[in-house]
Amino acid sequence: MRLDKYVADALGLTRSEARELIKRGGLTVDGQPATAPAAHVDCQEVLYKGEKLKPKGLVYLMMNKPAGVLSVTEDKNQKTVMDLLPDGYRRSGLFPAGRLDKDSEGFLLLTNDGALAHEILSPKKKVGKTYLVRLSRDLDDEKIYILENGVDIVGYVTKPCKVERLEPRLAKITVTEGKYHQVKRMFLAVGNHVDSLKRISFAGLDLDESLAPGEYRELCTKELDKILRTIQ
Ligand code: URA
Repeated sequence: MRLDKYVADALGLTRSEARELIKRGGLTVDGQPATAPAAHVDCQEVLYKGEKLKPKGLVYLMMNKPAGVLSVTEDKNQKTVMDLLPDGYRRSGLFPAGRLDKDSEGFLLLTNDGALAHEILSPKKKVGKTYLVRLSRDLDDEKIYILENGVDIVGYVTKPCKVERLEPRLAKITVTEGKYHQVKRMFLAVGNHVDSLKRISFAGLDLDESLAPGEYRELCTKELDKILRTIQ
């Protein structure tokens, strides 16, 4: 994990506050003064003004959300992604960073890191999300051009995006916004219909295809760093 992230987690700072603190001095990593926010820390001992810093219990899960469950923390009547987790994780205050529709599948990040979720979801960060969509009609070049340059999804014109046709009725679409039912409404705006939707990439990370629908795993440090680089 990057040193600035480690310090931010341990002291409850934003990452830019942590970077300032690191640059001001007073931190040591395994006894050596540390002033580079991008330095890598893993199992080393990190001290600030002689006090040991311990990262709080932050958890980052990659889930392959199955269709048929809600991506919310609780619902009185319907099954949610939290119902797929064991008690230990449920007690650690996890929540989904972003939404997928009930009938959508794929990469859902679950975390208890509010600061990170806030940054990932901030429209300013333009975090990329790639979806694999099965369509009910063939997708032609003209419709791809229209989708890529912005379509009116009733009251809102979408920002430029990338669309790649894989088969006549199968496409990949990468958007940097997260309006309600955005991808479905975009295809509807060009006279098509999304029959199924799966998020295959999020914030610079690809869904681990070894995760079956409903399975999840913790992100490794390298993957978390990749997300942090994406939102920098
Ligand atoms: N766009 C949609 O329409 N649905 C999703 O679940 C995600 C993006």
